[in-house]
Amino acid sequence: MVLISPSMLSCDFAKMGEQTKKVSDCGADMIHLDIMDGIFVPNITFGAPIIKAVRKYSDKIFDVHLMINDPIKYIEDFKNAGADIITFHYESISDVEETIDKIRSLGMKASLSIKPNTPSKDIFPYLDKLDMVLVMTVEPGFGGQSFMGNMIPKIEELRDEIERRNLDVLIQADGGIGKDNMKLLYDAGVRCFAVGSSVFKADDMEKAIDELKKSAKDI
Ligand code: DX5
Ligand code: ZN
Repeated sequence: MVLISPSMLSCDFAKMGEQTKKVSDCGADMIHLDIMDGIFVPNITFGAPIIKAVRKYSDKIFDVHLMINDPIKYIEDFKNAGADIITFHYESISDVEETIDKIRSLGMKASLSIKPNTPSKDIFPYLDKLDMVLVMTVEPGFGGQSFMGNMIPKIEELRDEIERRNLDVLIQADGGIGKDNMKLLYDAGVRCFAVGSSVFKADDMEKAIDELKKSAKDI
């Protein structure tokens, strides 16, 4: 299984609805929506009302990545806007367990993310309650950055722990992903790929998504 979740951060925001539809028609499995508050990360993007507005352009899974300081305050807003999966950061100030419980109590899938400097083992205690973990392969905040290859051992540690405990937790990677590192990530245990520039900067989006999927399994 290879799931591609194009990051709308790299789309043309003036045409966000159209672009959401286009990427959905071009083979995206999910739609990755990056929410930044200018505090947790040094950049501001958009909030729940924008997600609500683009929700009608796609029936794909809305994979909402919250890079915000106090995510628990906004979980309900994102649910009402149409989120299916909510990823929040371990490094944010909200209580991790309470936030996971809140996401799940509203019928969404819960996912926890770690920034590059956070060790994998910090989130081991929460794995039983999670549907997904997101390992950042760039410092969160901006699209178009270079992939950090030294995140691979962290991903492998998570994969090994998930397997050892026989859990059903999907591993997502996010940041600097393209054809050149898909296989490396796949072999380390990633099955869900948040990809911005490599999808939206391509001339042919359908071909780009197809090639990303194929490159995960290339020898
Ligand atoms: C970074 C975001 C990513 C980013 C991915 O903070 O979480 O989703 O937009 O974009 P690329 O693939 O261009 O690194
Ligand atoms: Zn993201």
